[in-house]
Amino acid sequence: MNSTEKSLLFTAEDIARQVQRLASRISQDYQGGEVVVVGVLKGAFIFLADLVRLLTIPTKLDFVRLSSYGASTESSGKIRIVADIEINIQGQDVLIVEDIVDSGLTTAFLREHLLTKKPRSLKICTLLDKMERRRIEIPLEYVGLHLAKGFVVGYGLDRNEAHRQLPDIYELLL
Ligand code: IMP
Repeated sequence: MNSTEKSLLFTAEDIARQVQRLASRISQDYQGGEVVVVGVLKGAFIFLADLVRLLTIPTKLDFVRLSSYGASTESSGKIRIVADIEINIQGQDVLIVEDIVDSGLTTAFLREHLLTKKPRSLKICTLLDKMERRRIEIPLEYVGLHLAKGFVVGYGLDRNEAHRQLPDIYELLL
C-alpha cells in the first residue's frame, strides 16, 4: 500500500494518551474489586494488551471471536460466535473491550450474549466510537476516540487482515 491510499488519523501518541486516560478511569471505577476483561478478537488485541497493562486492579482476561464483516467494509448484520469465553462470568464484573463500534450490531449482539451468562455488571470499553452508521443504541461507558466516519486501519484494526500491525491509526481512502 502506498501513502496515497491512506491518511494518518491518530498517532501512536494520541492513542497512548487515551489508553492511559481510560485505564485510569477503569481502575478508579472498579477499585476494591476485580474485573473480567473480555477482548473481542482480533481487532482489539493491541488495544487490550496496552490497556490491561495500565490497570491497577486485579484483572482476569478472556477473549471472544465473532464474525461480522467478512471481507466487506460494512456490517452484514449477521453475527455469530466463532469462539466463546471460557471463564465463568456469573456474578462477576465484566468489561467488554472492543476496537471500534460502528453500526453497533456486533457489540449489541455480544452484550446480549454475555448477559445470558448472568454477570454482576457488564460495561463496554471501545477504543473508537464511529457514529455515522450506528443502527442500534448501546451504552458505551468508556470511549477512547470519536470518529465521524470513514474506514480505519492500524493498531489492531484491519481490512482483509492487512494493516493490523501499524502503530498509528489511518483512514483508508477507499
Ligand atoms: P459493527 O457491528 O458495525 O459495530 O462493527 C463492529 C466491527 O466491525 C468491529 O469490531 C470491527 O471489527 C469492524 N469495523 C467496523 N468499522 C471498522 C473500521 O473502520 N475499520 C476496521 N474494522 C471496522
